[in-house]
Amino acid sequence: MLLTTPKFGEPLPITASPETLAFLAARRSASAMTLHAPGPSADQLHILLSIAARAPDHGKLAPWRFVVLSGVNKDGFVAGLEAIAARSADSSLVKKLGKLRTPPLAIAVISRHIPGKIPEWEQRLSAGAVCTLLITAAQAMGYGANWITDWYAYDADARALLGAAGEDQIAGFIYLGTPGDAPLERVRPDMEAIVETWAPVAIS
Ligand SMILES: Cc1cc2nc3c(=O)[nH]c(=O)nc-3n(C[C@H](O)[C@H](O)[C@H](O)COP(=O)(O)O)c2cc1C
Repeated sequence: MLLTTPKFGEPLPITASPETLAFLAARRSASAMTLHAPGPSADQLHILLSIAARAPDHGKLAPWRFVVLSGVNKDGFVAGLEAIAARSADSSLVKKLGKLRTPPLAIAVISRHIPGKIPEWEQRLSAGAVCTLLITAAQAMGYGANWITDWYAYDADARALLGAAGEDQIAGFIYLGTPGDAPLERVRPDMEAIVETWAPVAIS
């Protein structure tokens, strides 16, 4: 599978894609504990990350980066987290690592803050958009995907293991693999409760 990357300045006409709309309307994450090999190949991963890096990005700052975790490197990261968890009285921390241990591939999306005129909030939102694109593209490629944060996105030692420093935030760990079971539809928002049409308001 090859990724056709547009050249800078190339016209990119907007074309309707009913197939994409149908896919998005039924898109569903898969539980990390159901994700097994095979995961995306190296070429497929390159495509997925390239698509995710096309996320809307005010100021073209690319205020995010990826850390790929697979094979022995992921095993080493898990071992490091186990050592951190072992120092805690909370036994649930080790148990929660199953979600990281099980899938063949994990990608940490690290949100950066680049000082300047673009508000930090917008840079963080862009990192969330990267995560959304990454799971969506992986699902469109036929893989199961799950966006997880859990304790190791926030623990200082765990963050250091990933090389996250300073104002870096872990936007998420994206787990990828082949799902054992088809995920079931979950509860979705009541659209009437979250959509309104703006009407003029009196300002005193
Ligand atoms: C920023 C973020 C962090 C999340 N962290 C977790 C988590 O730590 N544990 C968990 O079970 N689900 C977590 N979720 C929710 C899962 O991604 C969930 O499977 C997903 O929302 C399912 O919805 P979908 O099928 O619409 O994609 C997180 C979601 C987001 C957006």
